[in-house]
Amino acid sequence: MNDLVHQVKTIARQITPEVIHWRRHLHANPELSYQEYETAKYVKNALESFGLSVHTLATTGLVAEIKGNNPTLKTVALRADMDALPITEANAVPYASKNKGVMHACGHDVHTASLLGTAKILTQLKEHFEGTIRLIFQPGEEKNPGGASYMIRDGALQNPEPASIIGQHVFPLLPVGKIGFREGMYMASCDELYLTVKGKGGHGAAPELTVDPVLIASHIVIALQQVISRNASPKQPTVLTIGKIEGGTATNIIPNEVKLTGTFRAMDEGWREEALKKIKRIAEGLAESMGGTCDVEISRGYPFLKNDPSVTQRIKEAAKAYVGADNVVDIDISLGAEDFSYYSQVIPASFYRLGTKNEAKGITSYVHTPTFDIDEEALSISSGLMAWMAIQELNYA
Ligand code: NI
Repeated sequence: MNDLVHQVKTIARQITPEVIHWRRHLHANPELSYQEYETAKYVKNALESFGLSVHTLATTGLVAEIKGNNPTLKTVALRADMDALPITEANAVPYASKNKGVMHACGHDVHTASLLGTAKILTQLKEHFEGTIRLIFQPGEEKNPGGASYMIRDGALQNPEPASIIGQHVFPLLPVGKIGFREGMYMASCDELYLTVKGKGGHGAAPELTVDPVLIASHIVIALQQVISRNASPKQPTVLTIGKIEGGTATNIIPNEVKLTGTFRAMDEGWREEALKKIKRIAEGLAESMGGTCDVEISRGYPFLKNDPSVTQRIKEAAKAYVGADNVVDIDISLGAEDFSYYSQVIPASFYRLGTKNEAKGITSYVHTPTFDIDEEALSISSGLMAWMAIQELNYA
């Protein structure tokens, strides 16, 4: 066993320059969600160069399998996302985005390059493990309804269903070298709220002749906060934010309508359903009681992400063996959303964090910012670490 971890580390060390090369290529050539055509081609070529056969799913998603001895014994899945964001890169680095207005500002280039590295390591070690490792390269993590939902729809978790799935994500709050884990609820569901409050416009000095949608909207904003404070269990993390109010034209005109848009997040599917119903009922009822109406449209996003405790404990142990116990840390929950959650609703899953920050090198920007970057030292860890986790997952009876 010890011998095998050394073999993983040795190959990982040999291929790190290649992983960096892939990452830089992907970083320089980012593509938006569901448009990852060139990215998928690049990844497919690389996988085929390792001798793997590759299937296309969900238009720009890919699946490949590495079969060890006794391949039908068990399957474990590893996932990377491939899409970039509509952000103009502000970094002056040789591998800066060549696609203006599009940037890998969430590290999906890192996830994809790392999983390629993992694939290369595992294909070289396939005589040393039993079972099958399925590689899932998905599109559209950044955009509803989430590429993961299409990958699942197209069979990424079937024939056979994997025993577990592991995903990794860069983490600019964690220094490079550290790996972060969280058992249980980890990230939130995310639904978008679009409310249109309709009243009857008129002169600001004659409100008795109008139904004021600004006032109705104000009541709705306040009432919706009470869904969180009075209906949600205080033990359940949940948040509702109205981020935008649109309506009116002048100081003395009451408009016909006001639009409210916001986000609702939760970490429990039962509460999520209940809350969405309450939001609709309160907004509609309140508007009606004040003489107006409210159209409530809810754009459903990702479910909440639950990290299976057993899988998380096992991959955490694997990480301790790979990077040392000192470098394995527990991380807090986040009310951010991540479409890896779809897999976590189907099979035991765990999503962990790869430290990418380096204050000495000035690499501290958060994800989704124009100056986001990683310390590429992380790439000397990410591929081998995931390969070792996958082997350990297969070994688990
Ligand atoms: Ni991301």
